[in-house]
Amino acid sequence: MLFGAILAGGVGSRMNIDSIPKQFLPLGSKPIFMHTLEKFLLCDQFDAVYLGVHGDWVDFVEDALSTAGLADAPVRVVKGGADRNGTIMSIIEGIEREFGESDEHVIVTHDSVRPFVKLSTIRANIDAMAHCDACDTVIPATDTIVCSEGGEFIDSIPVRDFMFQGQTPQTFRINALKRAFAELTEDEKSVLTDACKMLVLKGRPVAMVEGDVTNIKLTTIMDYKVAQAMLESGVE
Ligand code: CTP
Repeated sequence: MLFGAILAGGVGSRMNIDSIPKQFLPLGSKPIFMHTLEKFLLCDQFDAVYLGVHGDWVDFVEDALSTAGLADAPVRVVKGGADRNGTIMSIIEGIEREFGESDEHVIVTHDSVRPFVKLSTIRANIDAMAHCDACDTVIPATDTIVCSEGGEFIDSIPVRDFMFQGQTPQTFRINALKRAFAELTEDEKSVLTDACKMLVLKGRPVAMVEGDVTNIKLTTIMDYKVAQAMLESGVE
């Protein structure tokens, strides 16, 4: 079975708006996460789309679903985890509670704060699972990437042609992701912000799917302003 997993359990501290997590800020006529959810609901291949949300915001999300006429849509709201990977694991628990465990279960994870994801990118992720257990959406790096552990002097400058920027969706066969997660040390778990890195660290192949420059992540207030301008200029 195929599941969407929209990660909306963060607080958005780098947005510097204390009253509301960034994914619930308005963008045009609806909250940011609702744009993202609607993209997933355009894809008729999903058996269900899960939203992982901080416990304090479950009522807000359920109200927003009702307001949008989505109370009866195949959407499930579950409580998120302490970090991003914890939210993915909470969603997997929710899936397995309702649908059981299976080697065939695939999860398409996506940041709620990437509202401009294209349906074609979601479908490309799903298609990639025909030949792999995990894939990541990436775009070629346009800036030169400079590496520095100390932050004062440059250690290395990798060849730009080999550099890519990771986006989401990131898609996994659920059992492959669970196996990699179970093998991580507590130290590895505490520093991992990226789900694909769990598999990369354990030497498992992760395929790359072509993303899109419009699939931006809203992290800072500047990104929020860019997203508003994108929407006003017709980007969807
Ligand atoms: N996320 C999540 N559960 C968490 C933490 C993050 O579902 N416990 C989600 C966020 O809601 C967001 C996505 O992961 O959609 C990408 O993470 P990021 O942009 O880092 O979000 P935040 O952790 O909310 O941001 P910040 O680091 O600025 O606090």
